[in-house]
Amino acid sequence: MKTAIFYFSATGNSLYAAQFLKDTLDDTEIFSIPALIRQKIFTTDAEKIGFIFPQHYFGLPILVEEFVERLEMPNAKYIFAIATCGVPYWGRPFTDLNEILAKKNLRQNASWFLRLVSNYLMLRDTAADWRIKIRYWFAERKLKKIAAMISQNELHSTWEVGKNSGKKYHDDWERRRADLDKNFICDVSKCVKCGLCEKICPVGNIQRPHGSPEWQHHCVECLGCLHVCPKQAIDCGDVTKGRKRYIHWQIKPSELFNA
Ligand SMILES: Cc1cc2nc3c(=O)[nH]c(=O)nc-3n(C[C@H](O)[C@H](O)[C@H](O)COP(=O)(O)O)c2cc1C
Ligand code: SF4
Ligand code: SF4
Repeated sequence: MKTAIFYFSATGNSLYAAQFLKDTLDDTEIFSIPALIRQKIFTTDAEKIGFIFPQHYFGLPILVEEFVERLEMPNAKYIFAIATCGVPYWGRPFTDLNEILAKKNLRQNASWFLRLVSNYLMLRDTAADWRIKIRYWFAERKLKKIAAMISQNELHSTWEVGKNSGKKYHDDWERRRADLDKNFICDVSKCVKCGLCEKICPVGNIQRPHGSPEWQHHCVECLGCLHVCPKQAIDCGDVTKGRKRYIHWQIKPSELFNA
C-alpha cells in the first residue's frame, strides 16, 4: 500500500519519528504540513495515511487541525497517528483527530503517544542530557514496534487521560491565538541577525525589518524560533531565561526550515 505521512515538527521530535518510519516502511513518503498548507495542497491518493505531530496543550497543534480539516483522502484504507510529547497519555489529540476524520466518514485505525523530550520551555527546563539519551532509546524501541504494526495494518488505540480538562485548556489556548507571541522578546544585544528564527517559523509570523525578529501576532506557539536561535536571544518573558534550548539530536535545524 502506498503510504503518505504528514508531519508537523518545530524542534525535530516529530520529524525524527516521520523519517524513522519512512526509512523502515515500504513505499512511504513524508510531507511537511506547513509546506503543503502554503502550497494549498490538500489531497492525497495514498491508501495508508499517517499524521505525526507534537502534542500541543493536550491536543492537536493548530496547523494540524487546520490541515486535516481540509485534507481529501479518497483512497484511505488505514489511518494512523503519532503524537510526540513530553508526558504521554495526558490529553486528547487522537479523540480530536478522530472527530475531524468522522466528519469525512473516516476513522483512525491506530494511534500512539511517543514520549521524547518536552520543548515547552515555559513550563520547565529541557531534560538533562542523560535523560534525553534514555528517552531516545525507548522511543526508537517503540517506533520499531509501531512500524511493524503499521506494516501489518494492525489496529491500536491508546489511553487518553483528563480529556475534559484537556479540552478546556486547549480551547482557551486557541482563543488566545492573537496573543500567543505577546511575551516573546529579543535581546538585541545578543542577536546576530542571522535570520534562523524567521526561517524556522512555519507561519511567516516573524519579520526582521531591522535585522532582529518582530512578531506579527499570528503565532501558533510551536517555539521553533526560541529553540533555534544560536545566541539564545529569544525568550518568552523572563520564564525561559537560562533554560536549555533543544532540537532533536538527529535533526539539523535546516531540515526544519521552510517545513
Ligand atoms: C505550545 C506547546 C504545548 C505543549 N503541550 C504539551 C502537552 O500538553 N503535553 C505534552 O506532553 N507535551 C506538550 N508539549 C511538548 C511537545 O509536545 C513535545 O516537546 C514534542 O515532542 C515536540 O515535537 P517537535 O519537536 O516535533 O516540535 C507542548 C509544546 C508546546 C510548544
Ligand atoms: S535566530 Fe537569534 S540571532 Fe538569529 S536573527 Fe533570530 S533572534 Fe537574532
Ligand atoms: S513565531 Fe516562533 S513560536 Fe510562533 S509560530 Fe513562528 S516560530 Fe513558532
